[in-house]
Amino acid sequence: MKDYRIAPSILSADFARLGEEVARVSAAGADFIHFDVMDNHYVPNLTIGPMVCAAIKPYAVHDGKPVTLDVHLMVSPVDQIIPEFAKAGANIITVHPEATLHLDRTLALIRDHGCRAGVALNPGTSPAVIDYVMDRLDLILLMSVNPGFGGQSFIAETLVKIAEVRKRIDEHHAKTGKSILLEVDGGVKTENVAEIGRAGACSFVSGSAIFGARDEDGGYRGVMQRMRDALASV
Ligand code: DX5
Ligand code: ZN
Repeated sequence: MKDYRIAPSILSADFARLGEEVARVSAAGADFIHFDVMDNHYVPNLTIGPMVCAAIKPYAVHDGKPVTLDVHLMVSPVDQIIPEFAKAGANIITVHPEATLHLDRTLALIRDHGCRAGVALNPGTSPAVIDYVMDRLDLILLMSVNPGFGGQSFIAETLVKIAEVRKRIDEHHAKTGKSILLEVDGGVKTENVAEIGRAGACSFVSGSAIFGARDEDGGYRGVMQRMRDALASV
């Protein structure tokens, strides 16, 4: 089985008990904690910022080891907030190309602050925007819903884009030896995770499907295990 990562999006967690939720989903085996930052400007919703990131950081642990904080910034302008998230304990910081005037500079800024750098492509954004920044990337996030809200349905056209970006990543790896993670975000569930993995994704963001899991179905651990079982068939 390939090295797949499950990244629960805490957007669908109980915000009144966020530390506890992060601790529970980390203990249940989350590979990344996906942290959605929305500014009511780049996207029509408003969520959480660096102070909350710093507050949950100590809860993102599994067997005494820190769980990667995967920060998805749906924020414009974005540069001034990047150092704040680095200070708050972010490990990966992902930005949208439409949210910065100078993508190359923004990606360099993320790495200068000691974090791994990602680019997020909306359903309507062409993968051509990453052509000349591949060397600056550690992660490519493909949005399979329009950003702004949890609980939306997976847009099927994303599967074609996943395969296309997978090809670019593999070509880049063959040329440079460098690895880039391919993450998919939006509408990911137990029922479609294998198909998304088969198309070429290796990291799966899932909010409502994980945090909506019922205790009688094994809770967070149960749903993540069912996702891993489905991925084992890929
Ligand atoms: C949407 C966010 C997603 C969202 C995914 O803008 O980036 O991370 O929380 O939620 P689900 O899995 O419910 O589609
Ligand atoms: Zn996200």
